[in-house]
Amino acid sequence: MNPTSTFILVAFLFAVATATPQPNQDTPEDPEPVVNVTTCGGFVEASSASIEFQLGGSIRADMRCVWIIRPSYLFQRFNLVSSGLLGTDGLFLSARSRGGITPQEKLDTIGQNVTMYHRTLILTLSVGHAPTQGFKLEFYSSGSPQNSDLSGHALLTEAKGNYTYPVNGGQYGNNENALFAIAPSVPGQPTLRFSRVDLENDSGCMRDPVRIFNWFDNGYLEVARFCGSTIPTSVTFQDGAGLILFVTDASLTATGFEFQYE
Ligand SMILES: *[C@@H]1O[C@H](CO)[C@@H](O)[C@H](O)[C@H]1NC(C)=O
Ligand SMILES: *[C@@H]1O[C@H](CO)[C@@H](O)[C@H](O)[C@H]1NC(C)=O
Ligand SMILES: *[C@@H]1O[C@H](CO)[C@@H](O)[C@H](O)[C@H]1NC(C)=O
Ligand SMILES: *[C@@H]1O[C@H](CO)[C@@H](O)[C@H](O)[C@H]1NC(C)=O
Repeated sequence: MNPTSTFILVAFLFAVATATPQPNQDTPEDPEPVVNVTTCGGFVEASSASIEFQLGGSIRADMRCVWIIRPSYLFQRFNLVSSGLLGTDGLFLSARSRGGITPQEKLDTIGQNVTMYHRTLILTLSVGHAPTQGFKLEFYSSGSPQNSDLSGHALLTEAKGNYTYPVNGGQYGNNENALFAIAPSVPGQPTLRFSRVDLENDSGCMRDPVRIFNWFDNGYLEVARFCGSTIPTSVTFQDGAGLILFVTDASLTATGFEFQYE
């Protein structure tokens, strides 16, 4: 490329770059939460939200609730507004990252800000072996807008069920980032069994792995990782909740998987 055409190319790229409207890099927090959530668990996709569960009411022993949160902006601030939870209970915040699930942060101090900067957050309520009382927290996001990186998600709260991915059959996609939570609203110890597995196969299961995380000792512990077409051994979520993560690379897809739990 001669110097003149290089100059023209650079000038053209500069013009394109400056003509493109820039998103507001510094969106402030909403003054008030724009969404109110009052259920045990849920999918919350918003710039801010109030999550209030049984505040002033009672929650049964051993209850698990999982909220998957998809904040609109890069920075997130969580603030516990009110809580009747006991020392043996816990409200934990973590995030889905490409490497897995980040360590849990416990939300136990009223008014304290816990800040995060992830695209997908996971809030888990873990009640001890005694009935307890509810809580209210708020989250606000601010800064640059961020698109969802979640290609699929589900929150399974029935006592038993089954699930197929992709939901409508066919092949899963390249660059999937899917997250499925199992947290029956009637406390139990569900056993997860895969009945069909068709994934890209590589020796270390680095390309299109399914990973199972067991809620254990107040954190999500990875207990299985598999690929190819071999059905993995079953997993019992003895502490009442678990996550399934499915991340795929940029090449080769297959028909996915199906599991049951009860
Ligand atoms: C959420 O609930 C609060 C208190 O009940 C109420 O003031 C507020 O308007 C509600 N917000 C939305 C978005 O519904
Ligand atoms: C939490 O953050 C809010 C908003 O930035 C601020 O007004 C408040 O003082 C902070 N609270 C604490 C305990 O730092
Ligand atoms: C999956 O669940 C549906 C209804 O939810 C049920 O009809 C079907 O029999 C289940 N399949 C298996 C293999 O358990
Ligand atoms: C998957 O790959 C491993 C090692 O590369 C191989 O031993 C195994 O037979 C393969 N399984 C299938 C189902 O292709």
